[in-house]
Amino acid sequence: MNTFAGKGGASEPGAARGKDAAREPGAAREKGGASEPGAVRGKDTSNEPGAARDTGEGSVRMDAQRRAAYRERFDRYKDELRWLYMELYDNSSMYAELCDRMEEFYGGRRDGLKDMDLHRESCPDWYRSNELLGMMLYIDNFAGNMKGVEARLDYFEKSNVNYIHLMPFLDTPEGRSDGGYAVSDFRKVKEELGSMEDLESLTAACHKRGINVCMDFVMNHTSEEHEWAKRARQGEGEYMSRYFFFADPRIPAQYEKTVPQVFPTTAPGNFTWLEEAGHYVMTTFYPYQWDLNYRNPRVFNEMMYNFLYLANRGIDIIRIDAVPYIWKELNTSCRNLPQVHTIVRLMRIISQIVCPGILLLGEVVMEPEKVVPYFGTLEKPECHMLYNVTTMATTWHTVATRDVSLLRRQLDIVNSLPKDYVFLNYLRCHDDIGWGLDYGVLRGQGMEERPHKQYLNDYFQGYAGGSNSRGELYNADPVTGDARFCGTTASMCGVEKAALEGDAAGMERALRMDVMLHAYMFMQSGIPVLYSGDEIGQTNDYTYKENPAKAADSRYVHRGAMNWRLAENIKDPATVEGRLFGSLNELERIRKREKAFVSNADAWTFDTGEGSVLGMGRYFEGEKIIGLFNFSERDVKVRLQEEGGRYVDLISGKEAEPAEVSLPPYGFRYLKTCV
Ligand code: GLC
Repeated sequence: MNTFAGKGGASEPGAARGKDAAREPGAAREKGGASEPGAVRGKDTSNEPGAARDTGEGSVRMDAQRRAAYRERFDRYKDELRWLYMELYDNSSMYAELCDRMEEFYGGRRDGLKDMDLHRESCPDWYRSNELLGMMLYIDNFAGNMKGVEARLDYFEKSNVNYIHLMPFLDTPEGRSDGGYAVSDFRKVKEELGSMEDLESLTAACHKRGINVCMDFVMNHTSEEHEWAKRARQGEGEYMSRYFFFADPRIPAQYEKTVPQVFPTTAPGNFTWLEEAGHYVMTTFYPYQWDLNYRNPRVFNEMMYNFLYLANRGIDIIRIDAVPYIWKELNTSCRNLPQVHTIVRLMRIISQIVCPGILLLGEVVMEPEKVVPYFGTLEKPECHMLYNVTTMATTWHTVATRDVSLLRRQLDIVNSLPKDYVFLNYLRCHDDIGWGLDYGVLRGQGMEERPHKQYLNDYFQGYAGGSNSRGELYNADPVTGDARFCGTTASMCGVEKAALEGDAAGMERALRMDVMLHAYMFMQSGIPVLYSGDEIGQTNDYTYKENPAKAADSRYVHRGAMNWRLAENIKDPATVEGRLFGSLNELERIRKREKAFVSNADAWTFDTGEGSVLGMGRYFEGEKIIGLFNFSERDVKVRLQEEGGRYVDLISGKEAEPAEVSLPPYGFRYLKTCV
């Protein structure tokens, strides 16, 4: 049952607090059984199964210390919290309710988590090290359900993974779920996947092994099946005010003039007509995902309670889904409005007070100028981490053009940002690859946006440019000619084609490209995240076409189930799986071992004299690593500028000749030098 039900009715936006302030059921007493992340340093033993609650003096003192820490944090942030809240809502009773509930959620937070909070506060750089390696996965695809994932934790350890992103697992209607991004109950795990108890058991088991857990917080919208939406559809004013309902078609029409479309083909338009309600409702994404109206303080407060409820289940990293969209304003693009930043800052403050050990990961799939403001400022930070999305897209552009110049430019932009900013680096995720490139620069090189996008899409479908890639278009827009692309890393590198054609040389080339791209990705500053299955070279899965609920959404082509039969080959280097897994393993170990890979090291690119070879450098505390990455199918030789330096090849262990380094097709080098 939705825990909002029955409560919300009493809570008019702006209504005096009172009846609504009942204790959160989930916040009440936390289950035991957890130890906190090792990556986390700082061990939680207070709730180990069977551990009796220590009611002695020591424990009383600890409680007093934790409570004092909470008060100290609240006092530190309360002025700004109040100021920002009032600026948005000008409603002191709702503000008072928020503060009360924050304290309740703090009270409901397990002691082990509170201690982890304290520990992380004392070493705020803990996630900026070179130790973290992520993997994103769908629970059902990976291991059936949460218990299945828990039974597979060994695999993460074997893969050097200590951060898992569990793709959306909250309750969502079958067939109208957008892969779980249409949440109908923020306090309930989808039945097929398990329960909240299973989630707590999984986070606890992960923490014992030093694995951090990330989940999505889908705050821009709810499913049309959410309790609020159901009541809004029935015409209850309070619930209608939690969404954007318009009876007059002129208002949606006015919005449409300035608001771009997210899914122009699969879900055109930003509004959905509700026949039975006689209203339009705003639906930026799919028609069954109703945009929440954050002008209503009840929406903000309740969503913050959901956020804290989930944080208290032992989540370490909260991915704020589609964050740029959360504030809407007529006659604007409804993206990145200033109020969005106020809300994210409020979330940061609230978590900083209640659960400072957690990290906020913002999903801002936009150009760098739009992404970077979500870090906030040094004094007023917003997200801890953001996706390095333009770099990801530019990487694939580089594959298709064999020209590293745009990538160098992009990496230089990222490298010039403050080193405190932590990016999440990836080759691909569960979503499509949109060609958000710097067309201003490309135009200067004779590449116009539309034909270039056409080339990239043709290339990755395997039609142009000597490509061996396989995959599918996504949301091809017949009006603008725009389209995005879907495919697994291995398929985009040519593994699928080579396997089908039994082409050994082609397979060799494909695997080299795949490994080289990972090596390059690991060399970027930040946290690398693998897509589950990429570590064994899983190819596209076309079976989604047989499922009517998925058939229209080609993103499912790269969201196939983990093939555990193939994963048995990881130790056999004669297989695709063994070759990739072994190579990535080696790179991952190097990355964790060498301190020049820490996120806040100096990082730069350099001209290698070869248009297809990217040169990257990293320096930290006297150690320097040079990376060379050949994005072409040609043998090349490059000259390193620093004559006389001595380099060790970190892969072969041999000394390298700096004067001339040769790279095979799609080859790479990690060269370490001492300064
Ligand atoms: C995010 C998700 C995407 C989803 C959208 C709507 O962009 O990554 O998969 O479709 O939000 O929730």
